[in-house]
Amino acid sequence: KRRIAMMTSGGDSPGMNGAIRAVVRMGIEKGCEVYCVYEGYEGLVQGHNFIRKFEWPEVRGWLSEGGTLIGTARCMAFYERPGRLKAAKNLVINGIDALIICGGDGSLTGADKFRAEWPGLLKELVETKELTAEQIEPFKHLNIVGLVGSIDNDMSGTDATIGCFSALGRICEMVDYIEATASSHSRAFVIEVMGRHCGWLALMAGVATGADFVFIPEKPRAENWKEEMLSIHRKIGKRKTIVIVAEGAHDQEGNKISPEMIKDLLANKQGLALDTRITTLGHVQRGGSACAYDRYLSTLQGVEAVKAVLDATPETPTPFIAINENKITRKPLVQAVLDTKEVAKAIEARDFDKAMSLRDTEFHM
Ligand code: F6P
Repeated sequence: KRRIAMMTSGGDSPGMNGAIRAVVRMGIEKGCEVYCVYEGYEGLVQGHNFIRKFEWPEVRGWLSEGGTLIGTARCMAFYERPGRLKAAKNLVINGIDALIICGGDGSLTGADKFRAEWPGLLKELVETKELTAEQIEPFKHLNIVGLVGSIDNDMSGTDATIGCFSALGRICEMVDYIEATASSHSRAFVIEVMGRHCGWLALMAGVATGADFVFIPEKPRAENWKEEMLSIHRKIGKRKTIVIVAEGAHDQEGNKISPEMIKDLLANKQGLALDTRITTLGHVQRGGSACAYDRYLSTLQGVEAVKAVLDATPETPTPFIAINENKITRKPLVQAVLDTKEVAKAIEARDFDKAMSLRDTEFHM
């Protein structure tokens, strides 16, 4: 029987449990044994009861649960070769030669490197007598399949990452709450949303709530944004001002634009003198149950991930499961990671036209 392991890694996102459920059940349906690795790469390094076989009923009810029920962690040990040697040994002694990982681009890149190193790791484990040549014989190749779990929707090559629509929905709900109190007091609110390098959440929330201003990393506002901001709003009789700022926002020179800076501007006595508050939404965006879209996306993608494992040959480049124009697709992981890095590089080089054009295809703007 083929043994597949499922793991979640990096920041959690709503829908990860749906992915685990789908992998466990599709794996069993296809005649495999499915294992879950607890606490991400940490569990892979630790082994023992961090790696456990799952049965069909164990994932019952998981679709509606937020976060990841098998845990996730940022694991330093896996970045070092001794940690990866332990991880490889743990997979071999559990008879596992395929790993499905739901995480962000960093976690998935780590997995692909692990796969590339795999033969060398096994060779070293035999040389150091941790394993025997007979033990490693059936484990010539390691199959990796990626599922992208991130609320930021920051991975190139897919229209949506697992969790982004749940977070977007949560943000919109919170902005609606804030609007009621803002309007009552004729106040301005600066609302910080997540998105380290990606403005998708801020931009889409801005569109979906009709916010007055949005600040995103890919396209800083023009030089005159302050004047622009001061010239409108209350002059046209609005009772409230809503500004949505992505946590990774900066100006055209690359200096961070903080919510405090925007508040100072709005509250400036010589300017608008608006009674201004800051709300940092924080982790309410990430926790909580998955919306219908993320439940369905994670389920379809989990099913496809198992199929990709079973179709893989040693020559198949590591795939990740994407969604493009409403179709579940398989794409080469390495290329998507490179494309994702291109956007970050363009932002760093302050080539915002390039950053935005790279995002255009993703954001469908
Ligand atoms: O999941 C990605 C993200 O939401 C980023 O937007 C944010 O900067 C980060 O996670 C915060 O994560 P943590 O609190 O786990 O460090």
